[in-house]
Amino acid sequence: MDETADSGFNDRFLRACRREPVDRTPVWFMRQSGRYLPEYRQLRQDRDILEMCRTPEIAVEATLLPLRRMEVDAAILFSDIMVPLAAAGLDVEIRPSVGPVIGQPIRSASEVRRLRSRTADLDVSPVLDAIGLLRKELSVPLIGFAGAPFTLASYLIEGGPSRNFERTKAFMHGEPATWDDLMGTLGDLVSYYLQAQIEAGVQAVQVFDSWVGALDPDDYIRFVLPTTRDIFDGLAWLGVPRIHFGVGTGELLPLMREAGADVVGVDWRVPLHEAWERIGFDVAIQGNLDPAVCLAPWDAVEAKALVVLRRAAGRAGHVFNLGHGVLPGTPLENLQRLVELVHERTLRGSAAPTDGRL
Ligand code: CP3
Repeated sequence: MDETADSGFNDRFLRACRREPVDRTPVWFMRQSGRYLPEYRQLRQDRDILEMCRTPEIAVEATLLPLRRMEVDAAILFSDIMVPLAAAGLDVEIRPSVGPVIGQPIRSASEVRRLRSRTADLDVSPVLDAIGLLRKELSVPLIGFAGAPFTLASYLIEGGPSRNFERTKAFMHGEPATWDDLMGTLGDLVSYYLQAQIEAGVQAVQVFDSWVGALDPDDYIRFVLPTTRDIFDGLAWLGVPRIHFGVGTGELLPLMREAGADVVGVDWRVPLHEAWERIGFDVAIQGNLDPAVCLAPWDAVEAKALVVLRRAAGRAGHVFNLGHGVLPGTPLENLQRLVELVHERTLRGSAAPTDGRL
């Protein structure tokens, strides 16, 4: 398909991922389909999230909802990082206000072997069908995604959300060979799943290593980096931008660069220009407004967003986003105004907000 400006297709997100010149800085929001949106709550009612993800028509509708409200420059497929694990037959549930819960956690070599045999035949056709339907509707790029092996492993080992990742770290250090098997199994699953999404039509992929910021750099290098690098290397030939995101990764950013993605997503804890320096200006960056600030009065949101733009300083390769997902209590109007603000203030040829303090 011809994806040029004349065809009405908005490609500024893809251009920014490739660090090409853009007319305005692109903006989208992680979790842009979610409870902050009244029509999402209406669609959701008391439906189970995984059931919604398995029903292509509902996944399509949920993906499109935010695009009818705001001129975001990308759509993210409505799905969840637990979807491929549920498709592999694991006992996974997503409890509202809690998160993913695993019926039989994986804590031994035999359980890892069992996981390997289950992931061997994976039916994710509802996800691929939703992607096909969405590509017919969309005039912005569609982002597919997967959870990274560490973040998925943390749920599988802990059995649910965790604050300190005690069992995960005890497993990693106590049984390093079994840990490597688990990472290899999940890495293969993620690679297969992302390639299938790309072949079905997604135009960029994001790997969510949401909780990897819990590790120190030594453990990241030993226990996570090799698998993550294999995933990005294995996808390179497909030619779509690859985004790598985690929370609390300030100390890990130079290592995330080594993992090889085209775009590194950063949270709000590191000033954007410092984060970019750690990643290297030859890689694109995505972020990084604090999502909790979006619950404050608009003036505060605007002030903080302008600081992010000033720090990006009009360099090629900035995708504006929040530093993590949209929070359920966020006023929709703040996000709508934020999209307009980013587009207005970054119009190339106009006075970009590059002056003043960083
Ligand atoms: O961004 C989008 O609009 C696409 C949708 C999306 C969902 N999950 C749907 C969902 C995405 C990108 C995800 C990824 C995901 N899921 C991650 C990585 C991103 C991140 O936030 O770090 C993680 C860690 C999960 C696991 C998960 N699923 C959690 C922690 C929760 C929250 C539990 C809660 O209720 O607070 C979920 C549930 C979930 N997945 C919701 C949505 C929209 C919650 C909304 C609802 O209950 O309807």
